[in-house]
Amino acid sequence: METWKIQVGEAVVVSNILKAKDTWELELNLGNDLDVTAFLPGQFVCLAPLDPSSTMARPFSIASISTFNGTFSLLYKVIGKNTELMARLAVGEKVKFWGPLGQGFLPNTDEYDEVWLIGGGIGIAPLIFYEKVVSEFQGGIVRVFYGNKTGAEIIPLDLYCQEPLIIVTDDGSIGCQGFVTDVVQAYMKVANEKKILVITCGPKVMMRKVADICQQAGQDCYVILETIMACGLGVCLGCSIKTSSGMKRICHDGPVFPAKEVIWDELS
Ligand SMILES: Cc1cc2nc3c(=O)[nH]c(=O)nc-3n(C[C@H](O)[C@H](O)[C@H](O)COP(=O)(O)OP(=O)(O)OC[C@H]3O[C@@H](n4cnc5c(N)ncnc54)[C@H](O)[C@@H]3O)c2cc1C
Ligand code: FES
Repeated sequence: METWKIQVGEAVVVSNILKAKDTWELELNLGNDLDVTAFLPGQFVCLAPLDPSSTMARPFSIASISTFNGTFSLLYKVIGKNTELMARLAVGEKVKFWGPLGQGFLPNTDEYDEVWLIGGGIGIAPLIFYEKVVSEFQGGIVRVFYGNKTGAEIIPLDLYCQEPLIIVTDDGSIGCQGFVTDVVQAYMKVANEKKILVITCGPKVMMRKVADICQQAGQDCYVILETIMACGLGVCLGCSIKTSSGMKRICHDGPVFPAKEVIWDELS
């Protein structure tokens, strides 16, 4: 259960930079009263611009933290009202914010030969935090598989360890051509006796395929689930899903779940 304190307040925009087609990186400073060192990989925050036309606060994964600057960063794709307003945020403006939310998940990498992070689209965001923690602080061997539709949508990743990063696009404009799951399957076939931990985030169809590949290969897999959320605090039950171990709230019990608990046909 949670051992951190949910912090509520206003965060100041340090930078807001277009990184790829419709995809921005937002760095926020929490000021002296709030503390980014409490943020764990897999967790998210809810935030909303102060603009009166902004709708409810929206959930975004924590993509990185800077303990030195007291800042954290998100990667977001513009898809609707709030994210459109976010793309217009200027340096020094404030946003409403609460977090960190959800259960952080820190794998015990000593149990594994390699950690594979498999991201589709904007699902790469929480995996960047994992890459940093596992490579830099835990000393584990990490492979990042990053799939997107086109090269224009590929975010240049600021990874701790640039190798091996495997980029896959549907149209082959950057990296391998095809689906990221096909590439993962090919790598899994030659993984031999290695014990691999897989963490994946992206479209449901992609995560389901990754979960199947891992199950067939006998490898552990965790999925980072998304849904439309209201409170983000475990109160409204709006994000409840049926799992093999009972009803779970994605915002409170997740968003990271063992893939074997997920009943894919029950997910919206
Ligand atoms: C735990 C969690 C972490 C997330 N992390 C990120 C992240 O790091 N970066 C990022 O860009 N987005 C992330 N999202 C999704 C993000 O919350 C939505 O993109 C955001 O709410 C859109 O807000 P909006 O007002 O711009 O769009 P809206 O106007 O609210 O929505 C536009 C359209 O997108 C659909 N939609 C909204 N949210 C979702 C969703 N979660 N899944 C599927 N369809 C949706 C709506 O039904 C609507 O059709 C995350 C969601 C969750 C639950
Ligand atoms: S969004 Fe309210 S319980 Fe999860």
